[in-house]
Amino acid sequence: MKIIKTKDYNELSATSADVVISEIRKNKNAVLGLATGSTPIGMYDLMIKACRDGLSYRTVKTLNLDEYVGLGADSPDSYVSFMRDKLFEHIDIDMKNTHLPDGKAADMQAECARYSALIKSMPRDVQVLGLGRNGHIGFNEPGTPFDSVTHVVRLTDDTVEANARLFACKDDVPRYAVTMGIAEIMQAKKIILLASGAGKAQAVYAAARGKITETCPASVLQNHPDVILIADEEAHALL
Ligand code: GLP
Repeated sequence: MKIIKTKDYNELSATSADVVISEIRKNKNAVLGLATGSTPIGMYDLMIKACRDGLSYRTVKTLNLDEYVGLGADSPDSYVSFMRDKLFEHIDIDMKNTHLPDGKAADMQAECARYSALIKSMPRDVQVLGLGRNGHIGFNEPGTPFDSVTHVVRLTDDTVEANARLFACKDDVPRYAVTMGIAEIMQAKKIILLASGAGKAQAVYAAARGKITETCPASVLQNHPDVILIADEEAHALL
C-alpha cells in the first residue's frame, strides 16, 4: 500500500482528484468506482472544476459502492441523490452511464444479483473508497467475509450514529443498506482510500498497518497490488 500524507483536507482532495482525472485523461471510457460520505466531496468539487475547464465525462462510466435500503431518488438522503447533487448534475456525464444499487427494489436479492453482474461486466479502472470509523469500506461492516459480493447488510449502531449527522434525526437513518462486496471492491485495478480527520486515525492505522482480518474490512486492502492511501495529517497521526 502506497501512503500519501497530505497537510490538510484541501490537499487530500487535490491529490485524489489528480488520480481520478489522470485516469480519465488516459482513457475517455474509464470506469470509476465512486463513494459517498463527506470525505470525497472536495474531490468531486475539483472534478466539477475540471469539467468546467474542458475535461469531458461524456463517455465515462461510474459504479457506486452502496445505497440505503428503502431510499431512492425521491429521498434527499439517498446516495443516488447525493451523487446527483455533489457530482453528476454538474458534469457532462451521460446519466445512463451512472450506476448505483437500487435501494427501493422490490426484490433485494434479485437486485444484489443484478448489481453483481453489472460490476462483473464493467471492470473498474479506479475505485474511490472512504473509510468508516470502524474500518468499514462501502457498507461492509466488521466481520464481513473477504469473499463477499453485493449483499444487504444490517448497519452497526456505530455506523448509524456516524451517519446520523446527515439526517434530520438518528431515527431517520435506515438500519439496512445494500453494498458492493469486499471481493468486488478488490477487483478494481487501482484503489484510492481517502481518510480525513482525527476520528479516522485508528481506522487508518488498522487498515494500513494492522493485522489483515475480517474484523477490520479495510485491512484487506493490504492484499491489493495497487492501493494508494491518501490521508491528511490528522488521519495519518498514528502511522
Ligand atoms: C458511509 C459510506 C462509506 C463511507 C463512510 C465514511 O458509511 N457507506 O462508503 O466511506 O460513510 O463516510 P465519511 O466520508 O462521511 O466519513
